[in-house]
Amino acid sequence: MNILLLGSGGREHALAWKLAQSRLCDRLYAAPGNPGIAEHAECVTLDPADHAAVVAFCEAQRIGLVVIGPEAPLVDGLADSLRAAAFAVFGPGRAAAQLEGSKGFTKDLCARAGIPTAGYVRVTDETAARAALARFGLPVVIKADGLAAGKGVTVAMTRDEADAAIRDIFSGRFGQEAGLEAVIEEFLEGEEASFFALTDGSTIMPFGSAQDHKRAGDGDTGPNTGGMGAYSPAPVLTALLEGEVIERIIAPTVRAMAGDGTPYSGVLYAGLMLTRDGPKLIEYNCRFGDPECQVLMMRLESDLGEILLACAENRLSASQPPRFSPETALTVVMAAQGYPDAPLKGGRIDGIRAAEAGGARVFHAGTALGIDGVLTASGGRVLGVTARGPSVRAAQASAYAAVDAIAFPQGFCRRDIGWREAAREEAE
Ligand code: AMP
Ligand code: GLY
Repeated sequence: MNILLLGSGGREHALAWKLAQSRLCDRLYAAPGNPGIAEHAECVTLDPADHAAVVAFCEAQRIGLVVIGPEAPLVDGLADSLRAAAFAVFGPGRAAAQLEGSKGFTKDLCARAGIPTAGYVRVTDETAARAALARFGLPVVIKADGLAAGKGVTVAMTRDEADAAIRDIFSGRFGQEAGLEAVIEEFLEGEEASFFALTDGSTIMPFGSAQDHKRAGDGDTGPNTGGMGAYSPAPVLTALLEGEVIERIIAPTVRAMAGDGTPYSGVLYAGLMLTRDGPKLIEYNCRFGDPECQVLMMRLESDLGEILLACAENRLSASQPPRFSPETALTVVMAAQGYPDAPLKGGRIDGIRAAEAGGARVFHAGTALGIDGVLTASGGRVLGVTARGPSVRAAQASAYAAVDAIAFPQGFCRRDIGWREAAREEAE
């Protein structure tokens, strides 16, 4: 079977690496891909917003499975257009992708289905937003409703910060011309963890856990980013808690979506807060995390192509659960200096082969390959250096040994990825 993978980040490099190894995969195409993906796939130019062009490509190349990596084409309904043309697609349609595309939609669904989440108010103008603030203490969390590339959330420690966040949202700073909307919600205290589940609309297949590091600097300081590193599994999410997450959060979500006639098909990525009162949902994403996907793929021992096709064809109930290595996988993101505000482009990168010599894998996120064969940085997050080990500390040591084999003078990385869990291991 021929497979088309859409996307160009580190997440898609990890997916391409596993898909290329699938028993089912004849030819793997990636659009647009990147220099790392090009080692496993034929990279092609396709505009994901041009649904007719994507469908035409799938017809011409006799594609048996389309895997949509990023959220934007999912929220834009590309999966619907492909399904209407009878292609098997991994990823939700437009209606189901609202679980990521609209925070208000997800909060209302939680309220309706009794899913534990932070208390909230939806507001559509600045006056209502200010009035709603009175119902919450401090800190308070202000969220722009739509996709904002991870920038639409403010945890406000003061009223002034809350006011500024509200002003930003309703001045259209996050790019929604029509229907400006915000969610104001209660601040949850606890440790964050991510849980992944595949679903075809009815069957739920647990797909591992991870913890991300969202701040740019060591010790969780500095600006928010797309993620500076991750590890999997997340031991804080014990088997007991995982059972609770499936029963109280994932299953009621899947049932509610199916009951509304918009079954969710694809990966449900639940961002969780482990509070004193149990796990609560912070947000859903309708795609794999980046760099969480890299650590999951580094541990996955099953055939990814078979699993994603079974999901796309509503056959998860007849599928074997995925096998994951019990080892820890850990990714350190190497970013371009200036990320996340103004990443420096063009920095030269050497040493990837040396970094991989000890078994680590270097996933490309924002790289470009010149005609001279020189690899350079072309994005904010540039590489995801990923290693495995019998403990977080062992995986961390291997990942940083690989990082240190890479010469990327115009880049930087956090030196403490995995610190929470490493500290817990040490305390044991
Ligand atoms: P989100 O884009 O919804 O994942 O929010 C980004 C980050 O903001 C999360 O990873 C949390 O660290 C934080 N956050 C979001 N909502 C809350 C909340 N209700 N309470 C505490 N922190 C939150
Ligand atoms: N690493 C966070 C995300 O993918 O949303």
